[in-house]
Amino acid sequence: MTDAPGTAGRYPIRTATAETMEWFAAPLNLAFAEMPDPGDEERRVWEPERIIAAFDGEQPVATAGALTFRLSVPGGEAAAAGVTLVGVSPAHRRRGILRSMMRHQLDDVRGRGESLAILWASEGAIYQRFGYGLATLNGSFEIARDRAVFARPAPPEGTVRLVDRDAAMDIFPSLYDRVRVQTPGMVARSETWWRWLTLHDTDQARGANGMKFLAVYEAGGDVEGTAIYRVKPDWDDRGPNGRLVAMEVLASTPRATRDLWSWLLNVDLVTQVRAVRAPVPHPLQLLLAEPRRLGFTVGDAIWLRVVDVPAALAARTYGRPGTLVLEVRDPFCPWNAGRWRLAAGEDGRGVVEPTTAMPDVTLDAGDLGATYLGTFRFSDLARVGRVVEGTAGALLRADALFAAAPAPWCGTMF
Ligand SMILES: CC(C)(COP(=O)(O)OP(=O)(O)OC[C@H]1O[C@@H](n2cnc3c(N)ncnc32)[C@H](O)[C@@H]1OP(=O)(O)O)[C@@H](O)C(=O)NCCC(=O)NCCS
Repeated sequence: MTDAPGTAGRYPIRTATAETMEWFAAPLNLAFAEMPDPGDEERRVWEPERIIAAFDGEQPVATAGALTFRLSVPGGEAAAAGVTLVGVSPAHRRRGILRSMMRHQLDDVRGRGESLAILWASEGAIYQRFGYGLATLNGSFEIARDRAVFARPAPPEGTVRLVDRDAAMDIFPSLYDRVRVQTPGMVARSETWWRWLTLHDTDQARGANGMKFLAVYEAGGDVEGTAIYRVKPDWDDRGPNGRLVAMEVLASTPRATRDLWSWLLNVDLVTQVRAVRAPVPHPLQLLLAEPRRLGFTVGDAIWLRVVDVPAALAARTYGRPGTLVLEVRDPFCPWNAGRWRLAAGEDGRGVVEPTTAMPDVTLDAGDLGATYLGTFRFSDLARVGRVVEGTAGALLRADALFAAAPAPWCGTMF
């Protein structure tokens, strides 16, 4: 160790260019130790002008990046920074370098007029101190195929066909967008994202979980669902023992949900079916005769930071008309701190103004991040002492205003 904590000022932050971005992002490999080099596919979506590095002399020792996203929020969408590529070289940890990069990045996000920042955290403890709150949940399960029996079996109403990547490029994005605009937490994907990060298969991923299949569900002459899954074949002395991993299953109608899952649970030579990054709650919890057989587990998915409170509150709609005075504590982004009066009209839109009125609810910026998309209610946070109710009945009013359906979900890793 050559430096004491709190000496981050010794590590100036610079912004990358297209020519320097790989060099600027190099500390990531050191930070993650076992993380392989980001593949060419991943580099295609990097935005060099949003990648920063902290330098020790002429050497980049820490990096952070952001992607320009449109995030679905209840009733609309908002500009959001998708924070990614965060890592500090092990030899430079705990000197405040991450803190100084977060400062730089959130100021930049604000300057770009993005009211939200979102991220997937390697460890949840890292980002809460910077005002991020847990905003969506993910489920995963693994079920023995022979136990995956529907409670109310019904003949399929549509058909499933397999397509290649080029054909999928014409079908998957539009179905995704139909689901996306209705589902808080989903992000718009560019064409490059679709081709290279969603639909493309790599040798490395194929080696781990088998080849990637792209399935389209059609009924009544229309595409109503898509599924991306892998099948890893296996054989033992009792016969076939293949494993299927459902990576993304999207449906725009109830029959597509039911028929696609029925199909995925009945692929020949497969004995175990697993799903990752799945919505919570999951349709199979309601479709199966024995939902406990899923061994369903829930984990944290995206963390959300409200970067600009009035703009963020005005970007979403509200479940009913009404008013709410929020007192927000935000030491890391002090421009958000204070009292904000939200008035939601008959059309669901909210008007937000600073106020001196008594607060209905008092909470930290991170807790607003946890309630913003609708995953957690104000009353959930109050039960663990994170939200304080200032006026009688305010929690129920806040819950009703911020309620969202369907449950927020983000299946895009970045
Ligand atoms: C996590 C990481 C980026 C932190 O970088 P760093 O420069 O050491 O962090 P800082 O010194 O700026 O610490 C800022 C604060 O976060 C805390 N912190 C840092 N890493 C933490 C962790 N993994 N868990 C909990 N708290 C952590 C520090 O204690 C410090 O707290 P304080 O403000 O109360 O003093 C770095 O350890 C790393 O690269 N880890 C491996 C890769 C990784 O997980 N990246 C995140 C990808 S989402």
